[in-house]
Parts: sequence; C-alpha cells; structure tokens
Amino acid sequence: MHDRMANLDQTLVAGIKGYAWLPDLRRKHHDRPVPLRVLGQRAVAVCGPEAVRFFYDESHVERHTALPHPVVATLFGKNAVHTLDGAAHRHRKALFVALLMNDGIDVLAKLVGESFDEAAESWRGRSSVTLFDEAALVIARAVTRWAGIPVTDDELPKLAADLVAMVDGFATPGPRHWRALAARRRRERWLAAKIEGVRSGDVIAPADAAITTIAHYREDGEPLEPRTAAVELINILRPATAVAWFLAFSAHALDRWPQHRRPLRDGDDEFTAAFVHEVRRFYPFAPFLGGRAVEDLTFAGERIPKGALVLLDVYGQNHDNLLFPQPYEFRPERFVDRPIGEFDLIPQGGGDPRTGHRCPGEQITVALLGTLAQRLARLDYYLPPQDLSINLSRIPARPASDVEIVVP
Ligand code: HEM
Repeated sequence: MHDRMANLDQTLVAGIKGYAWLPDLRRKHHDRPVPLRVLGQRAVAVCGPEAVRFFYDESHVERHTALPHPVVATLFGKNAVHTLDGAAHRHRKALFVALLMNDGIDVLAKLVGESFDEAAESWRGRSSVTLFDEAALVIARAVTRWAGIPVTDDELPKLAADLVAMVDGFATPGPRHWRALAARRRRERWLAAKIEGVRSGDVIAPADAAITTIAHYREDGEPLEPRTAAVELINILRPATAVAWFLAFSAHALDRWPQHRRPLRDGDDEFTAAFVHEVRRFYPFAPFLGGRAVEDLTFAGERIPKGALVLLDVYGQNHDNLLFPQPYEFRPERFVDRPIGEFDLIPQGGGDPRTGHRCPGEQITVALLGTLAQRLARLDYYLPPQDLSINLSRIPARPASDVEIVVP
C-alpha cells in the first residue's frame, strides 16, 4: 500500500469509468495486483486464473461483510445466498443446485422457445418493437410458469419491468436505484404472500416446482422466513429474465457480424454454444466481484491486509489477451472445441458452482440464450435507424436503443 494511487479513493473514478476502471488500473500496474481505496476502504484488485483460484478459496475471502448495502438492497436481497459464507452458504447453495442444475433446464428452454414464438407472432406488422423489453417479457412468462408461480397475462409486463429494474439499478444512485428498491419491495411482498399460500394450501403449485421446493425448504429444522423465501425465488426469476441483456447483445452482434446468423439459423448446436459463450465473454455485464480478506494474505507478491476488500476484475479477465487472443474481436470460433474451465471464462463467476459462489444458473443461461439466439437468427426482421452504441460507463451496460426491430 505504498504508491500514491493506493491513497486516493477511487469510488468516483469507478462511477465514471465503469467497466474500464479496473482494467485501466491494472494496465498502469503492468497487470500486477493493484492496491487502492474504494468506498473509504483498502482494497486490492486482482485478475487471471490464479486470482480466481485465490478469490474463491474460502479460507482467503468471505462475502457477507463485503457486499455494499445498495447492491444487497436491490440486486440480491437481504439474507440471499450471495451474502452467506461457510456452512450456511453450502446448505443454501444445495437448494439452488438441486433446483437449477438438472433436467429442468431443458423444460425451461422449451418454455422460453414457445414463449418467444408466441410473442414473435404478435410482433408481425407492428411499426417496431423493442427487443430488450420483449425478451424480458418472453423469459418472465416462461420462468414464472416453470417455477410454479401463477401470473396472469395482465400482470406480466409490470413483473418483467420490476425484475429488469432490480438489475438495472444496483450500481447507480438516483432514479434507477429508487426504481430498483421499489421493485424489490413490491415483489418480495407479493412472493412472500404466495409462499405463505403454498404453505397453507391456498396456492396450488406442482410438487417439484421451485416455489414449492423453496416454500418447504428448511434450515436448522425451520422453514425460511417468507420474506427470505421470496428473496430466493426472486434470485431465480430475476437473473433468468436478465438473459434479455444477452439477447440484446446477441442482436447487436448479429447486426455487426451478420456472418454468424447462418449457422445459428441452421440450428448448428456446437456453433450456437460457441456463439453464446462469446456473447457472455465479449459484452459487458458483471464488472467485478468483491469479497473481504479474512486474514493477512499475500497474492502474487502483494500484501493484502486482513479486512481489505479483494476485487476480482471479471470484465478485465474476459478480455485478457493471454486467455483470449485478440480479446476485442468477436470470434465465436474461439470456443469451438474449447471446454470452459473453472478459472478462465468468468462472466458468471469462477470455481465450482456446487460448492462456491459461482452462478448456479450458468447452464440455464447457456440453454436459454442458445434457444433465443437461434430463434432470433431465424426471425425475418430489420433494424430501423437507431443508436446501438454501448456505453461502458453505464453499469449494467446495454445498447442505447434497447434494439428496436421491425418484423414485416
Ligand atoms: C451468482 C452472473 C444468470 C442464479 C452469480 C454471480 C454472477 C452471476 C457474476 C456471482 C458469482 C460470485 O459471487 O462468485 C450471472 C449472469 C447471468 C446469470 C451474467 C445471465 C443473465 C443466472 C440465472 C440464474 C442465476 C439464469 C438462475 C436461474 C444465480 C444465483 C447466484 C448467482 C442463485 C448466487 C450463487 C451463490 O452465491 O452461491 N450470477 N448470472 N444466475 N446466480 Fe447468476
């Protein structure tokens, strides 16, 4: 913690530079760990497969004291699995692994495909539709059905908008943040009542649906508080709906590099998986992850004092030219015949999703985006003039126009 930069608080700079913040700092430090201050606290930014291994070692880094309140209050929810450590995390994580990493993935992908087909029919002949909003609606309809949550067609647009708002407003002060807080309050209340309904028998849902499993799940012999159960149900609905971000990015990619449309349209599943991984790598979504050093540590020669924040530069690692040569070129072929390791491609975290904090919805994301990208490629549409630019200082980023399409 000796150089001048380590003494200047970076919070404002982070807000201005967005996704480029940590990569820029790391470049100035010749790709070494960067000591800095952020949110008034000491921190060290790290990147690379060894850094991922280090970050996900529970004896090094804990989460529950590291997540800023505004992020928990919007994106994750109080007492969410993201905020737990050790045995409490492992137990709660097993619930998500059981719900999300099984044959149900194909069922959800099929529902999403059908939901897209139904929506696409209604797009025909309209002056234009906003792909981002439509994708959120398509996914929200399918994932609520899959999770056993009764929602009427009238309720869906507001629900989809609330799920999007919780993601859109987590990293910024002002109106976007207030919308996210209001959306979370509304949806936690709504789903807590449904959870109580399942428990009392007033709400009927399939025995193996997520809402039923979460309603009857127990920790230390006790069911979850209805509000916490609602938080965890939202932790399925919200990120699934957020796949809309990746579909908007896919449309951006198909506009810039139309040669990729053909193999998607032909249903080439190997290429589709590679395309999906490249979208997740190339486009900005999660900027970095944060934890706190549980003891005095050293990483790559840099001392990390107990209590300092450890920031894993996710966007930087996905654009690391040692791991991904020509990282700023969109090249799905790089993922053909390339297995995804635990520590290299980390748009949804690293390590083992069954035991650590890595996203348990990664397979679902790949399946949903593959289904949607193939359907988008088959859809006969064009883009009217619009601003498709992606502002890297806006977290989370998305194309400025949200991708307007015309389906003749
Ligand atoms: C965790 C990204 C989709 C459920 C995470 C993490 C990231 C992430 C970065 C944190 C990893 C960490 O803290 O180490 C994404 C992205 C998605 C996505 C970019 C694409 C839209 C999904 C889906 C689901 C899901 C579809 C469920 C249906 C979760 C849960 C956690 C998580 C429950 C918490 C895991 C834990 O703390 O152990 N995700 N995710 N995500 N994700 Fe996702």
